Amino acid sequence: MSEPIASLSPNIYSVFMKILAIETSCDETAIALVEATGEIKHPHFKIFKNLVVSQIEIHRPFGGVVPNLAKREHTKNLPILYNKLQTKKLKADLIAVTVGPGLEPALWTGINFAKNLYTDLHGSEHGFTRIKLVGANHLSGHLYSFLLSQKKINKDIFPAIALVISGGHTIILLMKDLAHYKKLGETRDDAVGECFDKVARLLKLPYPGGPEIEKLAKLGNPKAIDFPRPMLNQKNYDFSFSGLKTSVLYFLRDKENATCKKVDVAASFQAAAFDVLIKKTLRAVEEFGAKSVMISGGVAANVSLRNAFRSALKRETWNLKLRPKLFVTKFPTDNAAMIAAGAYIDFLNKKKYKMVANGNLSL
Ligand code: KG4
Ligand code: ZN
Repeated sequence: MSEPIASLSPNIYSVFMKILAIETSCDETAIALVEATGEIKHPHFKIFKNLVVSQIEIHRPFGGVVPNLAKREHTKNLPILYNKLQTKKLKADLIAVTVGPGLEPALWTGINFAKNLYTDLHGSEHGFTRIKLVGANHLSGHLYSFLLSQKKINKDIFPAIALVISGGHTIILLMKDLAHYKKLGETRDDAVGECFDKVARLLKLPYPGGPEIEKLAKLGNPKAIDFPRPMLNQKNYDFSFSGLKTSVLYFLRDKENATCKKVDVAASFQAAAFDVLIKKTLRAVEEFGAKSVMISGGVAANVSLRNAFRSALKRETWNLKLRPKLFVTKFPTDNAAMIAAGAYIDFLNKKKYKMVANGNLSL
């Protein structure tokens, strides 16, 4: 086993580290141990453990995440998960903990746990004297999560368009390479996952709504109702989903629509939301000559969305040179392996985050 990396400096040619990552930004308590190697052009990850405890059942009766309950559950779950890791045997070089964005009371549980762990390990006699503690950006985690399942990254995939679609965010980025990106646009109101959760509530489906809508949508007709495609024709890369949710609300309130099937509402709503995501992404692909598209975040778990992206990118009309590759992360919903990946890339890029909960941290 090699030495824990030349004093954790990103300036060296080859880097090797074992990262213990902690994620508590919302309603998943997660800890992972990931080995990261390689410089910024060729990072490689090996996941030893990726443990997640979901609090869905606890928040479900409330129809959404209750911050204080999340905090209580994280406090309870973190030591249990940590004990399962057996890190004393596995020897970490770096502790990376999510500092934002997310629910601040929940973020603090992870930060405080990480700080205590760092003090414990650093002062111990288990060979951890060089261990470091860093703050991690949850969104970097989603953005770079596709790297966790790639054997090799080559430069032919750039420029790329990345779409981060979760319960809290809808962001589209132009990536020149792994180190350089520019935000092209984001949602002006609700995130797409939040919109799925709210529409699910209107349809009296349990929390979280995304997977429930996906299930119903499979049984319905996506063309049954012509819901609006907000901002689709605007020449920018911003999104807006709250109007779409309101359209579903008005549709369901209207007595004339009483006989309309729930499955058709779900399918038509999903089609409208995805149409905007896909068409705006394709426009960015064309404008910037992107060679690949990366989709991440909880909404990227949706198989219909993945398939729709795949067929849109394979369209016959694309000239062959411009047939972008699709990278769909294998880890769309919140987990700590992605936090390790994001922390490693940010570390190589010399991006640092304060060890303070920041609910509004951005990319
Ligand atoms: O990334 P994530 O686990 O947490 C945040 O960072 O927000 O994303 C959770 C969001 C929720 O809004 C959930 O409803 C949505 O992702 N989601 C889905 C699906 N699975 C999770 N949305 C649509 N289809 C799904 N299959
Ligand atoms: Zn997330």
